[in-house]
Amino acid sequence: MKATELKEQILELKRKKNAVILAHYYQEPDIQDIADYVGDSLGLSQEAAQTTADMIVFAGVHFMAETAKILNPHKKVLLPDMEAGCSLADSCPPEDFKKIRESHPDHIAITYINCSAEIKALSDIVCTSSNAVKIIKQIPEEKPILFAPDKNLGRYLQRLSGRNNMLIWDGACIVHEAFSLEKLNFLFHKFPDAIFIAHPESDARVLDKASYVGSTSGLVEFVKSSPSQVFIVATEAGILYQMQKEVPEKKLIPAPAFEDNACACSECPYMKMNTLEKLYRCLLNEKPEIILSDELMEKARKPILRMLSLS
Ligand code: 13P
Ligand code: SF4
Repeated sequence: MKATELKEQILELKRKKNAVILAHYYQEPDIQDIADYVGDSLGLSQEAAQTTADMIVFAGVHFMAETAKILNPHKKVLLPDMEAGCSLADSCPPEDFKKIRESHPDHIAITYINCSAEIKALSDIVCTSSNAVKIIKQIPEEKPILFAPDKNLGRYLQRLSGRNNMLIWDGACIVHEAFSLEKLNFLFHKFPDAIFIAHPESDARVLDKASYVGSTSGLVEFVKSSPSQVFIVATEAGILYQMQKEVPEKKLIPAPAFEDNACACSECPYMKMNTLEKLYRCLLNEKPEIILSDELMEKARKPILRMLSLS
């Protein structure tokens, strides 16, 4: 089927089944176009928490669909490709995290939403890149923090808050660690008026060069409200689609990765596993479906709800 036909069929199925399609900014343009809501991890969790639809099709990665399921235990939550994982989530196995938790009982465990339901169930508060600073600020100075799984976001928060009592997990995102400083410096010379903005999952040497650091939604908002006309954007390249729609007159340049690929930019191989065709089939067949035990969902829900109330 052609893309236009697939889109028509998806809309028809969506109406018949009273389904909602939630998509992350890193999804391919055709999927973003068909979605009811496109946003960052926090926005997507908030949408999932308040939807009145009977079924959620999550165009994102596994931990995002899991979060939607935890917030909607009685609804069907579908993920177009069950293999759409996340290197950050994979870097934090529950048995290892449990050991660290047990050996640091006085620490409050704040975990980035990019982790499995099992890790959330072992955590005190979940956070995303858009509310992490706000949440850390609400933790008393003297209380030690165990932050997992993203070391780059953890170090960024540590630097911003000036806290020296943070134990940070050694995990990273393969996409945000792939920006090349050498190629970036070349771009800074080529476009001296460009404003450089970056996602906090990026390496500290990249963040040091940024005029603004924020979540995907934060980056979109920054570009919209800034009077500047040229931006170099260090995050997954899928975001440029929505960003360019918001600011058609501005020039947006994706930050270059070490490896040369077709667009010389960074793409998340997990996010790109979802396709329009897979989205259509998953809505038609109502699978693959996220299935979690009630016990796990109950434990994982508490730190997510705490995050939503602190946001
Ligand atoms: P946000 O969209 O919440 O900034 O997260 C980025 C990301 O890497 C999602 O996997
Ligand atoms: Fe995970 Fe990085 Fe892909 Fe986001 S961009 S889903 S953090 S691997």
